Amino acid sequence: MKGIILAGGSGTRLHPMTLAASKQLLPVYDKPMVYYPLGTLILAGIRDIMLISTPHDLPMFRRLLGDGSQFGVTLTYAEQPRPDGIAQAFVIAADWIGGQPCALALGDNIVFGAGIPEQLQAASKRAETGLATIFGYRVGDPERYGVAEFDAQDRVLSLEEKPAHPKSDWAVIGLYFYDARVTDMARALVPSARGELEITDLNKAYLADGTLASERFGRGCAWFDAGTPASLLQAAQFVQTVQDRQSVQVGCPEEIAFRMGFIDAEALRTQARALGKTSYGKYLADLADGRHA
Ligand code: DAU
Repeated sequence: MKGIILAGGSGTRLHPMTLAASKQLLPVYDKPMVYYPLGTLILAGIRDIMLISTPHDLPMFRRLLGDGSQFGVTLTYAEQPRPDGIAQAFVIAADWIGGQPCALALGDNIVFGAGIPEQLQAASKRAETGLATIFGYRVGDPERYGVAEFDAQDRVLSLEEKPAHPKSDWAVIGLYFYDARVTDMARALVPSARGELEITDLNKAYLADGTLASERFGRGCAWFDAGTPASLLQAAQFVQTVQDRQSVQVGCPEEIAFRMGFIDAEALRTQARALGKTSYGKYLADLADGRHA
């Protein structure tokens, strides 16, 4: 299975912070925002990853992440000239996807919690069998997101993008798993009233086809869309609180890659050396020495 990180857009809700810098490269506590969705895809067992961003920002992502070998993955880069919609990622990546199942992680979405690895792996398996999966998370402000309505058997009944009157409190988070038909389904979409290929329209197409599955994240899980100053700060405070209290990293792609068996202890040590005396580097060195087991 392949995976895309979509890290373009203009980050207007974070101006002036993002006037000169890419939103997905801003720090969320001690690491760049894009590390978190990268970690999520690695946790799902995905090793072939494309990062899509603006022509202006792409070189900085290359400089940060390189070929991905330090995380045990292969990274490919592609440009999205204009922010013409999230689902456009599949049109841009169509040749690279090559008719395989593909996941998509938005570059500003952070998920953390017990049970999530199993849910990601279930979604990945489903994608191999012709099903798409969306993930629901209960929020107090559903009107800001895509919203899913479920029946008593957890089946998706309806999907709406930023509805004025949401039918439920369940936001659809920025992480999606699709089967091998995804590029054809994305190519068939028409731009919405705001001129974008909407991810919610792609999910609606799967829903209409009867091939949309869902997973709901429970109480013990955290989800942040770090797209506003308040949510960016909340995400950073959450990461700091968990990391300091438990002495574990949140969203550390090297650690996840190590636990997934994508890289070995020697690779962790190489990364640790490159990061010098930072607490992040020390954490990787400790991990290589068998601590944080
Ligand atoms: O965060 C989850 C939400 O993400 C979902 O609940 C919504 O259904 C989905 O539409 C999306 O809503 P947003 O309002 O957050 O979408 P936004 O336009 O802010 O784009 C999300 C990220 O994707 C953002 O980091 C920029 C990037 N992006 C967006 C578009 C439209 C691109 O890289 N290219 C694009 O063309």
